[in-house]
Amino acid sequence: MTVLWWQTGLIYQIYLRSFQDTNGDGIGDLKGIERRLDYLTSLGVDAIWISPMYPSPMADFGYDVADYCGVDSRYGALADFDELLDQAHARGLKVLLDFVPNHTSDRHPWFAESRSSRDNPKRDWYIWRDPAPDGGPPNNWISDFGGSAWEWDEATGQYYYHAFLKEQADLNWRNPAVQATMYDVMRFWFDRGVDGFRIDVLWHMVKAADFPDNPLNPDYQPAMGDMHRVLQLHSTDQPEVHGIAAEMRAIAESYAANGLGERVLIGEIYLPVERLMPYYGRERAGVHLPFNFQLIDAPWKARSLAKLIADYESALPPGGWPNWVLGNHDRPRVATKRGQAQARVAAMLLLTLRGTPTLYYGDELGLSDVAIPLAQVQDPRELREPGLGLGRDPVRTPMPWERSENAGFTTGKPWLPLNADWSTRNVEQMAEEPHSILTLYRQLLAMRRTHPALSVGDFALLDAEGDVLAYERRHGGERLIVALNLGRQPQRLQLPDWSDWRPLLSTLADAAPAVNGALLLSGNEGVILKPH
Ligand code: NOJ
Repeated sequence: MTVLWWQTGLIYQIYLRSFQDTNGDGIGDLKGIERRLDYLTSLGVDAIWISPMYPSPMADFGYDVADYCGVDSRYGALADFDELLDQAHARGLKVLLDFVPNHTSDRHPWFAESRSSRDNPKRDWYIWRDPAPDGGPPNNWISDFGGSAWEWDEATGQYYYHAFLKEQADLNWRNPAVQATMYDVMRFWFDRGVDGFRIDVLWHMVKAADFPDNPLNPDYQPAMGDMHRVLQLHSTDQPEVHGIAAEMRAIAESYAANGLGERVLIGEIYLPVERLMPYYGRERAGVHLPFNFQLIDAPWKARSLAKLIADYESALPPGGWPNWVLGNHDRPRVATKRGQAQARVAAMLLLTLRGTPTLYYGDELGLSDVAIPLAQVQDPRELREPGLGLGRDPVRTPMPWERSENAGFTTGKPWLPLNADWSTRNVEQMAEEPHSILTLYRQLLAMRRTHPALSVGDFALLDAEGDVLAYERRHGGERLIVALNLGRQPQRLQLPDWSDWRPLLSTLADAAPAVNGALLLSGNEGVILKPH
């Protein structure tokens, strides 16, 4: 079996606004990423995914795109991107962009045309509907950011649909001209040398053609946020989306077929496993990696995690490559959810499961969610439904690099506050500490390279009890065991008796050796073992 870079490699997610500022305006930029490329290669990552850098009014911080083929001047210029791409490639790093095909900014020229009159040729590029008989919205669909998903347009007497903010109008992907134009956008970046895309809200892209009401959610509680009042049965995950994913895949494959390198497509999809799997494709291949977000919210219990992993593995279609995610720019950070001690165990889990791992910037430092004072809240999600804990600013704070002012992120005023412990929780400091979580991430990534069993090896759960999650990874002649204690109490694990086992790496300072075929794990300890 040929193993491809996106199967063995780790993808590192960069939230561009928060990574590294170079011009003192308090937000990150492309030159900032370039400045930190050596950090990324020394950490051992293989690919970076950059959150949207396109010209944008920033109503949703770049997920409201006003020009798909440009760079926002706050982040730099197209030439800076080309330079970054060259510099990354020179170091063997792949670069993925964030493609936002479901919706454009309401300031995109296409939308301006579309809303200008009912008979404008671009009218049908977006989703326009007449009011309901009572003059209200056409149906009960709710925006993911709360409130009706329909916005009234006085001038033309119709509503337009927006799954997110009213400043993010949904494109009509049933329109062939929209499809053709957006496929050309992909080619524009692929031709420049981009190695792949993370595709924003892929499962939202096609809506039921007749726009029926969504069913009410019987389990709705106000604390969940307004969007959960209904189940998104008709507004998302329609069968036609798979044809679009297949077209995108065919475009990506055409580059490899012409000897221009393997390109990868990763779909952002929040769906239960059985509805996630079809995004790998059926008759025609879909995206390479439908994001698997299960670890973010799963109960942190050994037995249920073991079942989750086994169920996911067995649900994969033939040839479907797994992937795992612990955090991203929309969800609480792993160190906040699981605590500092378990964040280390989670790191070992992420980097030893079978499949492509994605690492969210700052998680390698054990960065926690940062409390944002009310006056500094930026995220429209929080501003629209305050106080429910749905805001995403806390997980988008600046990367702390150094012990100097503003942790080396900016010479200006950071757009969001830094983590309060930045003077010790920063790259410079933690790189020197032999037992920091940063050092652990480095060790784990190095180990994945020297032991392919950890990245591409077969996976098998081992019998374990209590808080222990244990599995074997096997590749060629090599067999490794990973044993993770998800609890605070010491635990014992009986090891397979065909060998004596010795620890390769522990999440704690030193691992105890196995004695009489049994491993004694300290509380919050994870260990990788190899046969003697
Ligand atoms: C998903 C992105 O991850 C999120 O940050 C954004 O707000 C929505 N899509 C809308 O584009």
